[in-house]
Amino acid sequence: MTDIQGKRILLGLSGGIAAYKAAELTRLLTQAGAEVRVVMTEAACRFITPVTMQALSGNPVHTDLWDARVSNNMAHIELSRGCDAIVVAPASADFLAKLALGLCDDLLSTLCLARECRLLAAPAMNLQMWGNPATQRNLKQLRADGIAILGPASGDQACGEVGMGRMLEAEEIFEEIDACFQPRLLAGKRVLVTAGPTFEPIDTVRGIANTSSGKMGYAVARAARDAGAAVTLVSGPTALAAPRGLERIDVSSAQQMYDAVMARVAKADVFIGVAAVADYRPTEAKGHKLKKGTGEITLQLRPNPDILGTVATRRNAPFCVGFAAETENLEANADAKRRRKKVPLLAANLAQHAFGADDNQLILFDDQGRHELPRAPKIVLARALIAHIAKLLPKK
Ligand code: CTP
Repeated sequence: MTDIQGKRILLGLSGGIAAYKAAELTRLLTQAGAEVRVVMTEAACRFITPVTMQALSGNPVHTDLWDARVSNNMAHIELSRGCDAIVVAPASADFLAKLALGLCDDLLSTLCLARECRLLAAPAMNLQMWGNPATQRNLKQLRADGIAILGPASGDQACGEVGMGRMLEAEEIFEEIDACFQPRLLAGKRVLVTAGPTFEPIDTVRGIANTSSGKMGYAVARAARDAGAAVTLVSGPTALAAPRGLERIDVSSAQQMYDAVMARVAKADVFIGVAAVADYRPTEAKGHKLKKGTGEITLQLRPNPDILGTVATRRNAPFCVGFAAETENLEANADAKRRRKKVPLLAANLAQHAFGADDNQLILFDDQGRHELPRAPKIVLARALIAHIAKLLPKK
């Protein structure tokens, strides 16, 4: 479930090869419960047909400023009223130039000018067109006008070149649309998040790890970013792609995670420790691959530093949030852990249900008691956690 459910999205397509991604975006939006209206420029219709977009959106597609189907013959006004957002994807260099100048010579540009809602544009073009000073000048103007520019990404281009100008993937644009509906509860705050497992080397090819996927920590980082915070994500080894628009620091061992956090914590307003940090590491990591013997061997372990505990007891500590992964006696253990770590807020979950899954269930413990967050996708829980943190943050 996302905040896109029930939203009215006007999806505009201008001309570009990336128009095929708009088909997938439409599917994602309608699946999430949005009402999607599609408007296409003449050039867009050369890349993908209105029939495809009509079938996927479940609504007639509009291409003509003079559409006689619209009762008052004012398609530009009719379509832009009542929308929660207009998303132009792909937004060609030409279309961005029109938007920047306020030109309105077709249906899409006219309804963008006549809009009352937010406007998001996902540029798609060749790298030279993207880098051209005229395009960059237009983008600066569009940002100043409050238009959200989504991407683009760098990579292989349809023209055979490689560089900046590829339109974001449908899934990424979907996430940006979802993000634009989030309240800016942490605007101006700096949030430091740890996520994922740690890896404690035994020798050059082996080590001690755990089954944390990093999904909860990444969801928390994304939710904090969507709430307007500047986010740094210190991540143990995971297969996940970093959410866009935040700083990601990759680490491997608990000691590296500790060092990365300590180097950045002084600037943080909020610290959220979601990582499943190994409590111990091998006393000695061999510099070569251990050879097999016949007898038993003993692995000697020494404690790792407690990152959350250290941050929470600093002078001028940020607002600290811990996660407790328990396998039994969840409530008693979590509450005791909160007191031991001296953190104002602790989110507890059952490790056997949480690790690796897309859904989770949390109980938050703070000075006021316990607050249950029922089973839901991790991003939904992460948003609820961020809202709870925003409520508890000291007002300046
Ligand atoms: N944590 C940490 N540094 C460590 C161990 C844990 O920062 N060396 C943080 C985790 O990121 C989490 C919280 O402390 O926010 C609790 O982690 P958890 O593994 O549940 O607790 P431990 O303190 O390790 O206690 P135990 O393993 O005995 O339950």
